Amino acid sequence: MSVWVILVAAGRGERLGLDRPKAFANLGDEPLLAEPLRRLEACPWIDAIVLVAPPGWEEPAILLAEEEGCGKVRACVTGGEERSDSVRAGLAETADDALVILVHDAARPLVTDDVVERVLAPLSEGWDGAVPGLPVGDTLKRVAADGRVEETVARDGLWAVQTPQAFAVDALRRAHAGDSDATDDAGLVEAAGGRIKVVEGDPRLLKVTTAADLDRIASWL
Ligand code: CTP
Ligand code: MG
Repeated sequence: MSVWVILVAAGRGERLGLDRPKAFANLGDEPLLAEPLRRLEACPWIDAIVLVAPPGWEEPAILLAEEEGCGKVRACVTGGEERSDSVRAGLAETADDALVILVHDAARPLVTDDVVERVLAPLSEGWDGAVPGLPVGDTLKRVAADGRVEETVARDGLWAVQTPQAFAVDALRRAHAGDSDATDDAGLVEAAGGRIKVVEGDPRLLKVTTAADLDRIASWL
């Protein structure tokens, strides 16, 4: 089967607050984007990559992919205003004969072969999609804008989900046929009636949101 990855790297990184998009923030002495690119290139389960770059950063993205020897990169496209627009831009570049599409946040640089293998497995058992997740450990409370606790939410059965998320190609295409701005592709597939399975995630799939996240990930490398 032919497995494609849409690597979404087109966000502005507003919460990181640098003078360039998050994908080009320094992780160690390289742009963050180099890490997931290299890992996906080397992953034996993946056949092809579509890179979704921030507007104006397409050339540096292509150059970086070339420097890293990423022969699996089939296209580099410009992302959109919202994450879902970027995923749709990437989807348009996937081949008609793709069977499975993974969507991965470049902001989660430490993707592993193991987690890719885990999200792919349920697709051959008839699931429409699979996502990595971790059971929520902390107590959860719903809190009003002024800080007052409104309720304590039972955390039983609650999972925090990550990427890479894997989908049967038809399920993902159908889910993205509209123009919803959901931040979670699995959520769109669920809303379209798809069955999604959660598999074991990885704490090191932490998403870079702030400078502290970048430092933490750099310390793991
Ligand atoms: N993303 C994207 N296109 C967008 C928004 C986000 O490709 N219009 C990607 C980001 O590059 C990132 C992933 O989606 O890899 C998760 O998004 P997030 O962590 O929110 O990144 P940013 O949107 O860049 O950060 P911020 O929300 O702080 O601006
Ligand atoms: Mg964002």
